[in-house]
This record gives sequence, structure tokens and C-alpha cells, in this order.
Amino acid sequence: MQKIIVDGGLPLYGEISVQTAKNAALPIIAACILTDEPVVIENCPHLNDINAMIDIVRHLGCFAQFDGDDLTVCCKDISLNVINSDLTGKLRSSIFILGSILSRCRRAYISHPGGCEIGLRPIDLHIAGLKSLSVKIEDDCGVICCDGLEMHSGVINLDFASVGATENLMMAGALLDGETVIVNAAREPEIVDLAAFINAMGGKITGAGESIIRIVGVKKLHGCRYRPMPDRICAGTYLAAVAATGGNVTVKDVVPEHILGITERLKKTGARISVRGSSVRITADGRPRPIHKLETNVYPAFPTDMQPQFCAMLTRASGSSVIIENLFENRFGYTNELLRMGAAITVKDRIAVVNGVPTLHGAAVRACDLRGGAALVIAALAAEGRSVVYCPEHIDRGYEHIETDFALLGAKIRRVTE
Ligand code: EPZ
Repeated sequence: MQKIIVDGGLPLYGEISVQTAKNAALPIIAACILTDEPVVIENCPHLNDINAMIDIVRHLGCFAQFDGDDLTVCCKDISLNVINSDLTGKLRSSIFILGSILSRCRRAYISHPGGCEIGLRPIDLHIAGLKSLSVKIEDDCGVICCDGLEMHSGVINLDFASVGATENLMMAGALLDGETVIVNAAREPEIVDLAAFINAMGGKITGAGESIIRIVGVKKLHGCRYRPMPDRICAGTYLAAVAATGGNVTVKDVVPEHILGITERLKKTGARISVRGSSVRITADGRPRPIHKLETNVYPAFPTDMQPQFCAMLTRASGSSVIIENLFENRFGYTNELLRMGAAITVKDRIAVVNGVPTLHGAAVRACDLRGGAALVIAALAAEGRSVVYCPEHIDRGYEHIETDFALLGAKIRRVTE
């Protein structure tokens, strides 16, 4: 069993480079199924979620192997189009692989991915979108059976700008004759990255990053070498940590416009932010100022994946903040652990009221999900005294080496295996 031990209360100083984006690399690995030629994904992060996606493509009969930080995927020998519950249970976002398997095999069977700690995670928008392309879909005792023998291009109106559904449908349309149009598409940078990757393979996708995406199907896609975008949520996590502990840190290898929704709100806490090229520098001291209302929403608004980290930072604010979580119905679970550190937080449904306290004290806490776990590390870094964060495997799903990164910035933090 592992745990992360933190002796908090120290400001953070130095420079840190950001890993490649987990939520860009995952759909890109799924999109490798669209070609029978080798693809090299450069600087691919070594994460539990990435390993779960690699297990899925290998299960389908594909080749996937890291060579250092480069991941080579070749789906020439894809031999299966069935993804069982063991695999979807390990990675619920794997539902977006449906589109690429249907494009390649025209039939696919996938166990319903089910919910997770932060919400039910329904897939109705994925199903409705595929049905708009005349995919015949039946739910047979939790196995989603897709018959795409007569699937064709078409217009899809998403009721909600779902990231995963947009990615799924881009991959479903990539090899279809004619033009597929996604209306009310998600606009996240990861969507733009997936479109750029498919276009690097010879695809014809335009409008990614806007609400209407057009996919002109092509007969065949070829292999390529591609470096996905940097992880905007990891960048935001480091910046929020400095706002919580104080200090002066430069986060390198980011795309500043990807994190505007984060840095603009950090400025409201009194942190100073400066941008130079692909580096963002934050300086903070004393207690952060509160953010009277912080609402999560789809890009380019404030991202839900940064909500727990900001909440942890605001526990020490010089006033009260109200956090409204508009994306997921159960994304405040981590606050119970923050209460053990002396935080003063009241949660009702999708609203959390955070009454800032001068100091947090160290405690033994348990990570229950990815971003909630990152929030506990931020709180531990800001707290006086020793904290122990149990179940760090949740954090490892999205951060390659969170304790090493913060140790590089002067934190007294280490991982212990018992
Ligand atoms: C992606 O999840 C990310 N995951 C999530 O990051 C992120 O929080 C989310 O987008 C929102 O930005 C990956 O990219 C692997 P959605 P996804 O479909 O695609 C509802 C992390 O921490 N919805 O945009 O599942 C859903 O219930 C993870 O890295 C439906 O109702 O997000 C939610 O309320 C957590 N029906 C909202 O849409 C559907 O068919 C957003 O979901 C699909 C979604």
C-alpha cells in the first residue's frame, strides 16, 4: 500500500514542466484504430489511465508499446471488436473508442462503462449521436451492441456539448462517405488536438474548437508521428498550489490560452500572473483572497477538473467563496477530507460554501478520485504540520509524479510504500 507524506507550510519556488495531456492522449490512442499503419505518439504520459487504454487496444489485437516516452500503436491486426466490463470498468471514458471501432469494423460490443466517484456518467449523448449516423444500437444486459453495417454520414445535434461524445462522433465520421456535421460540439482544446491528429493521418476535419465541427470522410487514413498538447489541468494544479502555499513558480511548456479560464480566476485571489511564450509565472504570498462565486462550465469557462484544486486553495482564503459545480452531480466528495484538516466547508447538492480559515492543520486523509486527490495534496502543502494522503493511486491516474514535481519546487513531500 502506498501513501504520500507531506510536511506542509512551505512556499513553493522554482520551475516545473508540464506533462502531455492525459485527456488528449486517451482519445488519440483510441483514434489509432482508424488506421492499419503504425502511429507514434510522442512524449506520451506514463499514467494509469493511459495504461488502461493501452490494455484495451492490446485486447483488440493491436500492438501498443512504449519506447521511452514515445508510444507506438499499430492496429493492423485488430481482431476483436468486443470490450468487456473489466476493461471499461478500469477506464470509463473508454466509451469513446466505440466510434473508432465502428469506423474500422462496422460492428462493436462494449460493456456499459458505468458511473464513477464523481457522477453517473451517462452515455445517452454518445448513443443518440451514433444513431444519427444510422448505427443500430441495442443494450443487451449491459452490453451495448452496435451494428454499423449501414451507418452513413449525417448531421448530429448534441443536446449538451459533451467532450467524450464529440470525440466519439469525430472518430465515427472520419471514414464515412460524405460529410458528418456535429452541432453543439464541445470546444475543449483536447477536441482541437484530436482533430489535428486525425488530420495528420490524412483526415479532413474542420471547425474543431468551435460549436460546429465538419468531418469529411476519407477512404483511408495513414500512420503518423504526433505530439499531443500539454496538460492544462496539471498546469492549473501547480498554479493553484502556489496560490495556496505562496511562493514564486514558473510553469513551463504550457499553452497559455488553454488556461486563461484558470489564470484569470487566480488573479482574483491576489496572485500575480505573467506569461512569456509557453511559460506562465505565478507569484503569491499570504492568504489568497476569496472568489465570491466560482462556477464550473464547458470550455472556455472555468473547468470542472480544476474545481477541487481551487476549493483546497480557497480553504485558507481571507473570506468566503461559493463554488458551483455545473458539470458533475457528485464532485465534492473530497471536501469531507478537507474538513479533517480544519477547513470550513458546507456542501449542498452542487454548491459548496468555503469559509476561509487562517491555517489548516495536517491530517491523515484519503483520496477518493483523481482531482479530489490532487486537491488533498494542495491542502497538505498549505497546512501546518504533517499530512498523510492515502490511496494515491487515484492521483496517479492523471499525474505522472505529483510528489516529485512538488518536491522539485521545495515541498517536503515523499511517497512511501508499506
Ligand atoms: C471529459 O469527460 C474528461 N475526461 C473529464 O475529465 C472532464 O471532467 C469532462 O470531459 C468535462 O470537461 C476525459 O477527457 C477522459 P462530458 P467526459 O461528456 O467526456 C454529461 C478528469 O479528471 N453527459 O463532457 O465524460 C455528464 O454526465 C476527467 O481528467 C451526459 O449527460 O465529459 C456530465 O454531466 C474527469 N450524457 C457532462 O455531460 C452523455 O452521453 C460532461 O460530460 C455524456 C455526458
